[in-house]
Amino acid sequence: MSKLIRFGVSVDAELLEKFDDMNDKKGFGNRSEAIRDLIREKLVTEEWSQTDNETVGVFSIVYDHHQNEISQILNSLQHNYLDIIVSSTHIHIDHHNCLEVIILKGECHRIKAITNRLSAERGIKHGKLIMTSTGTALL
Ligand code: NI
Repeated sequence: MSKLIRFGVSVDAELLEKFDDMNDKKGFGNRSEAIRDLIREKLVTEEWSQTDNETVGVFSIVYDHHQNEISQILNSLQHNYLDIIVSSTHIHIDHHNCLEVIILKGECHRIKAITNRLSAERGIKHGKLIMTSTGTALL
């Protein structure tokens, strides 16, 4: 771990009270840990703001496998992105519904391209991309 630095921050009392209340609910032990979490969150946002940065995404989709040959379409699309799809898992939720979780590692713009494409397919009930990080820039 690199050297720790203490620094003072001036903030409106009511704003700080809201911040403390939120952090109590989230279970942060102290303000320092909560502020470190905010900084890391902003760094991840920055990581995703540059389209050619390498990063990591976790994409989940829920769909009815009976509709529109969606299973074959999803399978075929994933074969086109072999170089950035690290892993995928499929579970059968019930008779109709499936959940697929796809882990991607690669350039931001390519992760967004495939996940946007998959989300737009007919038969997809819900698609959600979690934009996370390789962790390299987060220390
Ligand atoms: Ni299934």
